Amino acid sequence: MKGSTRLFIVIISGILFTLAAFLSQCASDNGQKPDLRGEAYADETTCASCHKNISNSYIHTAHFKTSGPITGNNLPAKSRARNHSFIYNNDLKIIIETRKDGIYQTAWFKGKEVRSQKMDIAFGANEKAQTYGYWKGNRVYELPLSFFDTINDWGISPGFPSNVVYYDRAIVSHCFECHGSYLKKSFVQTGPLSVAEEFSKHSIIYGIDCQRCHGPAANHVQFHLENPTVKTARYITTYNSLNKQLKVNMCAVCHGGNDLKTEKSTFGYKPGDNLASFYDPNFGMTTEPDVHGNQATLLQRSKCYINSTNLTCTTCHDVHQQEKHDPVISSQKCLDCHKTKTHNFCKMAPQLGNAIAGKCIDCHMPAMPSRLISFKMSAQNQNSPYLLHTHQIAVYPEQTKQILSLINNIKKSD
Ligand code: HEC
Ligand code: HEC
Ligand code: HEC
Ligand code: HEC
Ligand code: HEC
Ligand code: HEC
Ligand code: HEC
Repeated sequence: MKGSTRLFIVIISGILFTLAAFLSQCASDNGQKPDLRGEAYADETTCASCHKNISNSYIHTAHFKTSGPITGNNLPAKSRARNHSFIYNNDLKIIIETRKDGIYQTAWFKGKEVRSQKMDIAFGANEKAQTYGYWKGNRVYELPLSFFDTINDWGISPGFPSNVVYYDRAIVSHCFECHGSYLKKSFVQTGPLSVAEEFSKHSIIYGIDCQRCHGPAANHVQFHLENPTVKTARYITTYNSLNKQLKVNMCAVCHGGNDLKTEKSTFGYKPGDNLASFYDPNFGMTTEPDVHGNQATLLQRSKCYINSTNLTCTTCHDVHQQEKHDPVISSQKCLDCHKTKTHNFCKMAPQLGNAIAGKCIDCHMPAMPSRLISFKMSAQNQNSPYLLHTHQIAVYPEQTKQILSLINNIKKSD
C-alpha cells in the first residue's frame, strides 16, 4: 500500500471513529438521549410515551418544580415586583431589582450600594417558600432574602442574621440531593484543613424526576420497547414488592429530616435499598424530629402506623398529582380506617355532631411551628413562625380546645 493511501485510510477511519463516538453520545442505538447519571438511567423523556397520564400530571407537582434555574416564570408573581425594598434597620436595606440580565438582591448601607448578586437558582416550588442561590465560579451561595408564600412577601432567609446582610452561606450538594435529581461535584482544598464543594454547572438535573424516586430505568425501558405485549412491569422495583418500612423509605430519603450527616450521596438511593447505610450512624437522630422535613419519623411514631399493616405515605398522598391541600379530602382518608361501625371512631364524635366533618386534621395532625425554621419580615424584630402539619397522628388537648371554641363560636353566630 502506498504511503498516501495508508494515510488516507487512517484519516478516514479517524473521522468515522470520531463521528461514531459523537453520534453514540447524541443518541444510543434505540434513539434515546443519554442521561447525565450514566448508562443505567433511561432518557427521562421516554417515560411519557408509555406512562402518559402520570407524566402529564406529574409536571404540576411541587416535587417536579422544587428547584430550577431562574427564568422569571418560576418566581412568585409578587416577588417579581420592581425595586421592592426590604428594611433591616434605618441604615440597612436590600432592594430586589430587575436589571437587564436578571433579578438582583442589592444591599444598601447608609445610602451606598455595598453588594449586589443575581438570583440564579430557585429552591422551593413556591408552595410555602422559595430561597435563592447565586453562582460564584463553580460554587453556589444562598441569598439573604427568601420569599414566603404564606405571607406573600419577602423575609430574611431562615438561619440568616437580622442585623447584617450575609451573602456567603454555601449551598451544599445535600440541598440538591433532596431538591434535585443529580449533580456532579468535586472537592477543592481551600486551606490546610478545609475543603469546599464545587459543582459542574451542566451536570445538574433540577427538580425531582421519575428516576429520582423509582431508580435507574434503562433496562426497564429497553425491555418494554422490545416487548410491547408484556403488560407487567419488568426491570424496575415495583412498589407492592416492598415491605411497609421500605415503602416509607422511598420518601424518608428526603422526608426523614435534613439534620442527618450523609456518608454517601443519596442520589444513589433506589427503592429497596437500606437507607441507614447512607448515613453516619454516630450523627444526628439525637434531636426531636421537626415538623419541617421529617414526616417519616413522626408518622412512624403514630399508633395509626404502628398498629396497621398497610399505612404508608401513599395512603394519603398521590405523588403523581398536585396536592389539593383540602382538609375535607384529607379527613376522608381517616374514615377509611376509623368508622363508627368498626368501633374505632372519634371519642369526641357525639359531642361534635356534624361539626366533625372535614376537621380530623385540625385536631389530630395540627399545624405546628417548626423549631428549625422561622423567618423575619421587613422592619420587624420578632420572628414569624413557619407552620407545618405534624405527622404524629395523636390526641392534642390544646388544639382540641382551640378548635372546640372555634366550632362553638360558629354555632353561636348561626
Ligand atoms: C415502552 C414502554 C415503557 C416505557 C418507555 C417506560 N415504561 Fe414503565 N412500565 C411499562 C409497563 C408496560 C409497565 C407495567 C404496567 C404499568 O404498571 O403501567 C410499567 C411499569 C412501571 C412502573 C410501575 C412499578 C410498580 O410499582 O408497579 C414504574 C415505576 C415505571 N414503569 C417507571 C418508568 C419510568 C421511570 C420510565 C422512564 C424512565 C418508564 N417507566 C418508561 C412500560 C414502559
Ligand atoms: C428526592 C427527594 C424527595 C423524595 C424522594 C420525596 N420527596 Fe416529597 N418533597 C421533597 C421536597 C424537596 C419537597 C418540597 C417541595 C417544594 O415545595 O419545593 C417535597 C414536598 C412534598 C410534599 C408537599 C407537596 C406540596 O404540594 O405541598 C408532599 C406531600 C411530599 N413531598 C410527599 C412525598 C412522598 C409521599 C414521597 C414518597 C413517595 C416523597 N415526598 C418523596 C423531596 C422529596
Ligand atoms: C416522589 C416520588 C415519585 C416520583 C417523582 C414519581 N413516582 Fe411513580 N410512584 C411513586 C410511588 C410511591 C408509587 C406507588 C404508588 C402506590 O402504589 O400507591 C409510584 C407508582 C408508579 C407507577 C405504578 C402505579 C401507577 O400509578 O400506575 C408508575 C407507572 C409510575 N409510578 C411512574 C412514574 C413516572 C413515569 C414518573 C415521572 C413522570 C413517576 N412515577 C414519578 C413515587 C414516585
Ligand atoms: C434531607 C432532605 C433535604 C435537604 C438536605 C434540604 N431540604 Fe429543603 N426541603 C426538604 C423537604 C422534604 C421540604 C418540604 C418540607 C416540608 O414541607 O416539611 C423542603 C422545603 C424547603 C423549602 C421550602 C419549600 C416549600 O415550598 O415548602 C426551601 C426553600 C428549601 N427546602 C430549601 C433548602 C435549601 C436551600 C437546602 C440546603 C441548605 C435544603 N432545602 C436542604 C428536604 C430537604
Ligand atoms: C390504614 C388505617 C388508618 C388510617 C388511614 C388512619 N388511622 Fe388512625 N389509627 C389506625 C390504627 C390501627 C390505630 C390504633 C388503634 C388502636 O391502637 O386500637 C389508630 C389510632 C388513631 C388514634 C389514636 C391515637 C393515640 O395516640 O391514641 C387517632 C387519634 C387516630 N388514629 C386518628 C386518625 C386520623 C385523624 C387519621 C387521618 C388523618 C387516621 N387516624 C388515619 C389506623 C389508621
Ligand atoms: C394519614 C394521612 C397522612 C399520611 C399517612 C401522610 N400524610 Fe403527609 N400530610 C397529610 C395531611 C392531612 C397534610 C396537610 C395537607 C394539606 O395542607 O393539604 C400533609 C402534608 C404533608 C406535607 C406538606 C407539609 C405540610 O405540613 O403541609 C408533606 C411534605 C407530607 N405531608 C409528607 C408526607 C410523607 C413523607 C409521609 C410518609 C412518611 C406522609 N406525608 C404521610 C396526611 C398524611
Ligand atoms: C375538636 C377536635 C377533634 C376533632 C375535629 C376530631 N377529633 Fe378525634 N379525638 C379528639 C379527642 C380530644 C380525642 C380523645 C378523646 C378521649 O379520649 O376521650 C379523640 C379521639 C379520637 C380517636 C381515638 C379513639 C379511641 O378509640 O381511643 C380516633 C381514632 C379519632 N379521634 C379519630 C378522629 C377522626 C377520624 C376525626 C375526623 C372525622 C376526628 N377524630 C375529629 C378530638 C377531635
